[in-house]
Amino acid sequence: MYTRETSMEQDVERAAVRFVCDLFERNRTLSSGPVINEPTAAALDEIEHRGIPAEGRELEDVVAEMEHDIIGYGYNADHARFMGFVPGPTSAISWLGDMIAAGYNRHAGSVANYPAGHAVEKGLIGWLCAKAGFPAETASGTFVSGGSMANFTALIAARDTILDEEDWGRAVAYVSDQTHSSNAKALRMIGVTDARIRIIPTDGAYRMKTDELASAIAADRAAGLAPFVVIASAGTTNTGSVDPLREIAAVCRAEGLWMHVDGAFGASVLLTRYRDMLDGVELADSLSWDAHKWLFQTYSCSMLLVRDEHTLLKSFSAHPEYLKDLEDDADLVNPWDLGPELTRPARGLKLWFTLQVMGEKGMADCIEHGFTLARWAEDELRQTPDAEVVAPAQMAMVNFRFAPEGLSEEELDELNLRVSRCMLESGYAGVFTTELGGKKVLRICAIHPRTSEDEMRETVRRLAAYAREEAAAMRA
Ligand SMILES: Cc1ncc(COP(=O)(O)O)c(C=O)c1O
Repeated sequence: MYTRETSMEQDVERAAVRFVCDLFERNRTLSSGPVINEPTAAALDEIEHRGIPAEGRELEDVVAEMEHDIIGYGYNADHARFMGFVPGPTSAISWLGDMIAAGYNRHAGSVANYPAGHAVEKGLIGWLCAKAGFPAETASGTFVSGGSMANFTALIAARDTILDEEDWGRAVAYVSDQTHSSNAKALRMIGVTDARIRIIPTDGAYRMKTDELASAIAADRAAGLAPFVVIASAGTTNTGSVDPLREIAAVCRAEGLWMHVDGAFGASVLLTRYRDMLDGVELADSLSWDAHKWLFQTYSCSMLLVRDEHTLLKSFSAHPEYLKDLEDDADLVNPWDLGPELTRPARGLKLWFTLQVMGEKGMADCIEHGFTLARWAEDELRQTPDAEVVAPAQMAMVNFRFAPEGLSEEELDELNLRVSRCMLESGYAGVFTTELGGKKVLRICAIHPRTSEDEMRETVRRLAAYAREEAAAMRA
């Protein structure tokens, strides 16, 4: 398109069609290959220094280079046995929806630019708000790039709603020791430094201790500070635990604080028969919900939902003179009035498209499979000698460690790290470590709708075999 030769467009069309076939072939065979495709250091160095040619190259060559030398390498987070971090088992339907949205490349910042697309996104936000139990008359939201941006957007709205500007320097926020780091990062970005971020301890089930929260708020008020937000988690990244949302809401109501719920991972449970796990979420002021996690969307797609649209408008509505032609209706709310972005892709379309094709029931079945996978993993672990379940199956997660006799705590940390590395090197499954209660533990987060019981149990059996081998090597 950016060349005067129109024949180039035909070349691009042919290459695109070929690429789609290649991609589907890759996806068909992905889970019989390794979970990670690691390039050599020399290959990386060579790619980094390939440079930019003065004259353009043959399209075919560059496509081949992209496919073979570049994009094929990395963690295959959509592999059926990738169980690290929060995996990204992308639905092919989402990918197609993404292609359609990207193909038309609508500027989705304003209603005028894509009226029907906006109607789809608005309707979808309304549907998601209803799932969260937010009031239909006032609730609203926006699509953003990910959980970090959703949390960031929420915390700006929280600050602007609760505090006068002269109090920003005294602002205090409350998280738990299990809250995702993107929240502290967002707080720092809005000027709430670590010295004014209170980390409330969790109980034995990794849930925020509400009594400690209430005491911390009281102490901060007594010290002349300005508490403004509590960040509760609905599905922590480490263990899938859900904070006591109803109790936290009561504290927030009593203290006049904003309640933000980080449901980047766990909010998808609202679409399933396990939705009661999130009881009390309807009392929150805002909720982050990632579609590129447990709704199987391509990156990047996340929602921030709020109880009251005015709170987003207060923080983000801006009316530059050069956009007034698109804002002649004073009551019109454009997406750019509801979040930090001006130009934005139509992120909600692919999620709508996916839900249209799968239906609510199809989506619920896929999410619920994650619960079953975690239970199978826990069941297998409980039959495995020397395996300790540190945090039982919650949502799609289970945390555990191998603790054979005769090794010190430090050695056990080393052992479990080695077990993860052995598994990654084998290519069979992606299982990584995290830390709980000061100990290194192995963590499974299994949300791929096509992972089988056999694969789940085999993953645990292989981990146990590595643990035996490595423990023997460490003792030797
Ligand atoms: C609970 C939670 N919040 C926020 C995030 C950050 O989301 P993102 O990576 O989409 O920015 C994550 C990521 O794993 C998460 O698990």
